[in-house]
Amino acid sequence: MRYIEATPFSRARFEEARKHLPGGVSYSIRHFEPYPIYVSAARDRRIWDLDGNEYTDYWMGHGALLMGHGYRPVIEAAMSQLREYAHVGLPHEWEVKLARQVSRMVESVEMIRFTNSGTEAAMYVCRLARAYTGKKAIAKFEGGWHGGYDCLHIGVQPPYEAPGSLGILEDSLKHTILLPFNDLEGVERRVKGLELAAIIIEPVLGAGGAIPADPDFLKGLREICDSLGALLIFDEVITGFRLSPGGAQKIYGVKPDLTIFGKILGGGIFPSGGFGGRADIMELLDQVKHPRPHERAFQGGTYAANPLTTRAGYTLLRELEAKPEIYQELNTLGEHARNELENVFSRYGLEAHVTGIGSMIGLHFTREKPRSAAMAQREKRLELAKAFFIHALESGIIYLTPESPLLFISAAHTREDLDRLIEVAEYFAKKKGYSLK
Ligand SMILES: Cc1ncc(COP(=O)(O)O)c(C=O)c1O
Repeated sequence: MRYIEATPFSRARFEEARKHLPGGVSYSIRHFEPYPIYVSAARDRRIWDLDGNEYTDYWMGHGALLMGHGYRPVIEAAMSQLREYAHVGLPHEWEVKLARQVSRMVESVEMIRFTNSGTEAAMYVCRLARAYTGKKAIAKFEGGWHGGYDCLHIGVQPPYEAPGSLGILEDSLKHTILLPFNDLEGVERRVKGLELAAIIIEPVLGAGGAIPADPDFLKGLREICDSLGALLIFDEVITGFRLSPGGAQKIYGVKPDLTIFGKILGGGIFPSGGFGGRADIMELLDQVKHPRPHERAFQGGTYAANPLTTRAGYTLLRELEAKPEIYQELNTLGEHARNELENVFSRYGLEAHVTGIGSMIGLHFTREKPRSAAMAQREKRLELAKAFFIHALESGIIYLTPESPLLFISAAHTREDLDRLIEVAEYFAKKKGYSLK
């Protein structure tokens, strides 16, 4: 395999890493066969590994790096914050500025609290929804990924009924309801008569395959939540500030009660998360209004709203607000790539399809274009997906992950980069296409 010949240093580093880190990595999805690259440098839309190989990066920090690697305004803001004060654990101006900025950009967010990850935001938002409604059940979707919080860590990958990890108590999942994505009747059937605190949904499935919800589906969920007295929570950890300055909710025109954020919220380069929404709900966290701890919902943490993350986030969001043309360019690149990739696959008879929206691309080695993660998983030809990943890697292109290809375009990518991706896919389709039938 050409990859093995080209990466002896990464291989040695992986062997060493396995002695100290379980599986040699800090997040299992960062591992791929035969072993992952170890990064030595990153700039704009490129990364380099320890062996000096160069890659066009569509992994993009798990989708956090909307502007690419080393975006100057954010780096400079962070450097200057490091020199002033990096961590104090007391209130400071940047958390207020960022909170105000998010409210300006995302209409449904009247108030927000900051966390250190999307997982944490999901955890606190579920607690808040239960506290506000006085109800227990939280519904999530098949293929939805909201991080590793116990009560949401089910139904991510098949078999959907099984917990997504060892060590999750049955009790933690007792009040979690699984719903079918893009199937409003299916949702209605399952939630009928339930005492539901909230429905949480990614408006566009991320890890589930870059599959957008139908606009009517999201509108229908809004109505279902209203009729049941349940809260509608959007997980915009990926889509927030990526699909538009106001996130996916702006594009869909559906207003959730609460939203969770992450990734881009921290300038893309620092651990970040947040949850926000209607003031009457968020006020349940307010220790001034509710001085007795057991009469309010809790959120906090040593590094919550730390100055580096909040200043980096604020700097980036201001830029994004001021330069809407960035979204136009990202959308044009995304659309070009999705159309051409789909054309290439059909031209050579390769059963593969392209999903996504804006700067998100999902590749599916399936007979039909999937409308849900369940459909994508059911029909997936895993060997083909893995073969394409290695072919792309050997052609100097990286994305996450081999099993469920998801590509993030950043503002640093160019039309030439995407044309190269299309060319690489064409070569693969030509080789595998009709010959597989
Ligand atoms: C949609 C979505 N929600 C939540 C999370 C969890 O965020 P984090 O990895 O910051 O804990 C992720 C992470 O990829 C995500 O994609």
